[in-house]
Amino acid sequence: MAPIAYLECTKCGTQLTADQPRTICPKDGGVLYVRYDLAKLKTSFTAASLFGRTPNMWRYAEVMPEAEPVTLGEGFTPMLPSREYPSVYIKDEGLNPTGSFKARGMSAAVTMAKSYGLKKLAAPSAGNAASALAAYAAAAGIEAHIFMPQDVPMANRVECETYGAQVTLVDGLISDCARLVAEQKDKEGWFDVSTLKEPFRIEGKKTMGYEVAEQLGWRMPQGIIYPTGGGVGLIGMWKAFDEMQQLGWIGSERPQMISVQAAGCAPIAKAWDEGKTASEFCANASTLAAGLRVPKAYGDYLILDILKQSGGLALSVTDEELMDALKHWARVEGVFAAPEGAASLAAYRKLRISGFFSSSDTVVLFNTGSGLKYLDVIDAGKEKKQPERQPQPASRQIGGIIGPY
Ligand SMILES: Cc1ncc(COP(=O)(O)O)c(C=O)c1O
Ligand SMILES: [Zn+2]
Repeated sequence: MAPIAYLECTKCGTQLTADQPRTICPKDGGVLYVRYDLAKLKTSFTAASLFGRTPNMWRYAEVMPEAEPVTLGEGFTPMLPSREYPSVYIKDEGLNPTGSFKARGMSAAVTMAKSYGLKKLAAPSAGNAASALAAYAAAAGIEAHIFMPQDVPMANRVECETYGAQVTLVDGLISDCARLVAEQKDKEGWFDVSTLKEPFRIEGKKTMGYEVAEQLGWRMPQGIIYPTGGGVGLIGMWKAFDEMQQLGWIGSERPQMISVQAAGCAPIAKAWDEGKTASEFCANASTLAAGLRVPKAYGDYLILDILKQSGGLALSVTDEELMDALKHWARVEGVFAAPEGAASLAAYRKLRISGFFSSSDTVVLFNTGSGLKYLDVIDAGKEKKQPERQPQPASRQIGGIIGPY
């Protein structure tokens, strides 16, 4: 493990020590990034040194915070070559502990919470982050206080209760849950591990970027499609690419980063379309993909900047399109994806039709979770008989894409 050099604000550049639990920048509320002495690490931490290491996310120990990991074997998930599209890979995060990529972030956050001696953690969650927090908190012997929308997929609620977390179901969205955590945390002595309100969930999620590079033989794909709610994975992967370049493992090449959102809650896609650097709160957010029901991402300014820097874009897909993609992946690839993950395929289809990606472009589609966690949602979706999909002229299909290319 590496000693943390300092924590750095992504807005004003303020540097803080990591010798105590930190949340956000005290000056401007900016998200904090963990910084290591990569120039020093470069001499000893080489890509070759990974050979033979345990296949989980802690194999990148030198660029992870220095503490005894609270691990359930998260990370190093399969990079499956698509059977349908020869240049596409499906990064299957559904195989993580608790069935989603949220395990990575919570493994890192709980590891650090434990090393700081924190005893009570709290988080608002759309569902999967809650399950992951509950599991890692149980493994660490720490209390978890979880606030979830009451219409969260059943698996998330049952998991949290079974792991022994304190669960509050809220008649509202994740933003209402976040408000309740903020109101109660000081009185209750909880440390808030909300998305991007502490620096270590990014460190866990960034390992997806290391894995993409390692599993593709240290070559960058042309594109990465990532279902975006709070955007931590996208932010983390971009940070990982920067670190890998500083370590000398890759050059300056970067994938085009694509954010896919649900049409019923697409604040990032809307901001992208309007050329803005921050998003507006999406009122009446509604989608079957619970993890994408995030009306305003705290790190929206980071996500939009990354999309721009990478030459990527944000787009939205309808619930019908993502459920169609979910069934298609299951039947054609044998991958039972979460609705959020299936949005990646729906987005890829649109970007192939529009010509943004060609058949020879290597594109990694993130399936961020397992469909097994959504049996109630998927089964209910089946009952609603969808009208027969009529083939549409290409221009109308392209019209569904939000954002300039
Ligand atoms: C399966 C799944 N995919 C994607 C997301 C969105 O993740 P993020 O908030 O990191 O953008 C979530 C969030 O809950 C999720 O559960
Ligand atoms: Zn700041």
